Amino acid sequence: MNFTLQDAQALQTILSARRDVRGNRYIDKAIESETLEAIFHAANCAPSVGFSQPWEFILINNSDLREKVYAEFEKENKKAKKIFIADTLYPSLKLEGIKEAAYNIAVLYKKPTKAILGQTTQKKVGEYSVVCAIQNLWLMARAYNIGVGWVSILKPKKIKKILGISSQYKLIAYLTMGYVNEFLDQPELQILNWEIKKELTEVISTRNNNDH
Ligand SMILES: Cc1cc2nc3c(=O)[nH]c(=O)nc-3n(C[C@H](O)[C@H](O)[C@H](O)COP(=O)(O)O)c2cc1C
Repeated sequence: MNFTLQDAQALQTILSARRDVRGNRYIDKAIESETLEAIFHAANCAPSVGFSQPWEFILINNSDLREKVYAEFEKENKKAKKIFIADTLYPSLKLEGIKEAAYNIAVLYKKPTKAILGQTTQKKVGEYSVVCAIQNLWLMARAYNIGVGWVSILKPKKIKKILGISSQYKLIAYLTMGYVNEFLDQPELQILNWEIKKELTEVISTRNNNDH
């Protein structure tokens, strides 16, 4: 299949418009089942080492479980506030949407029970494959005008316990997902001057034949 320039531009538009969404932007609107399926279908199209497809997703609607996860976030964020004590901005940042989002999603890595082609030297490539699936999900959700947020201020061990996840699995990510009232044009942390967007020249270097 050959794509057109317009297809490439549409993909770039989606890539540039993807945002991390926090609780203050989610709205109370259910995601249609076909849309949800399309988003997870995108995730399931991700590349994976040895074609192992080691991802699994748990959709969490249960409000009791969410309350428990939120309590864990609060505990960890209290510690983070101490680390960023010099930054007056940090305490005002909204860094999750656990209770507000239509869905919470635990993304798991299923540890292999046999040797995986390509994973024999670098053991973490299975986990990297799961991150590829997360990115696919994040982008397809955006294509459907649905926001996703990655909540990493959580102790995986605690979340696994709350959700009753066995030791066969590693928690890779805890996501929130739902319709939003707006997508910011730029990353919020860029707007707030927390970090500056890197230029391409800063992130690409070359090694040429004449280099020593
Ligand atoms: C691995 C990972 C973990 C993240 N964890 C958090 C988090 O705990 N809380 C949060 O508000 N944003 C989190 N983010 C979102 C980033 O802050 C966000 O991607 C970045 O500021 C760029 O903004 P954008 O995604 O809207 O372009 C995380 C993003 C990634 C990729």
